[in-house]
Amino acid sequence: MTHLIDPAEISGRERYQLITSLVVPRPIGWVSTWDEAGRANLAPYSFFNAISASPMLVAVSIGQRKGTLKDTLVNLRSRGAFCLNVVTEPLLEAMNATSAEVGPEVDEFELAGLGRATSERVDAPYVAECPAVFECEVSQEVDLGESPYVLVIGEVVGVRLSESLPLAEGTMTVDSDALRAVGRMSGAEYMLPREKKVLPRP
Ligand SMILES: Cc1cc2nc3c(=O)[nH]c(=O)nc-3n(C[C@H](O)[C@H](O)[C@H](O)COP(=O)(O)O)c2cc1C
Repeated sequence: MTHLIDPAEISGRERYQLITSLVVPRPIGWVSTWDEAGRANLAPYSFFNAISASPMLVAVSIGQRKGTLKDTLVNLRSRGAFCLNVVTEPLLEAMNATSAEVGPEVDEFELAGLGRATSERVDAPYVAECPAVFECEVSQEVDLGESPYVLVIGEVVGVRLSESLPLAEGTMTVDSDALRAVGRMSGAEYMLPREKKVLPRP
């Protein structure tokens, strides 16, 4: 037996709970930017995914904080660039620390005790400890109608990989056991890389 829930008949909070507990695990786009004054910003976004390989496009959906824009969106609009830091197991606690609802004067790299490096390709900083970073330019903003979220599409113009990350021979496929990327479940739950099942395509 199943029962049908009408999204129009539940609260916004319940819609959030349903969608974020069923669309799982979600990758985490850990977005680093500069603001207009040159201050660094870093925050995680799990309404995030890769949406095209050629060109390489990613999309991140940014909500509001009590009716005001989040720092990340303000910075994406003013600087037109960002870095996406892949959240790996050793960086999980630091990622969580950077989700603190703090003002633009707070540098979340400092807040979380992270090293900050400057991208070569785009006008944005990145997490020095992160083994895999996408350097992106904002390519498009998509209005989501009634939703307070804004979808920002970025084009990847550089992929920075640590030498500690092996690639499968003759390919650009990064070894998932070496990467150890973390996924987000609902609320404060995360999925750590553990058991893997390999299924050849039919
Ligand atoms: C794992 C994780 C995923 C998150 N995903 C989103 C998201 O997809 N969209 C969003 O608006 N906020 C999301 N948040 C909340 C933001 O990270 C939080 O509001 C942060 O303070 C925004 O920072 P900023 O104002 O510096 O951009 C998430 C938080 C965590 C811990």
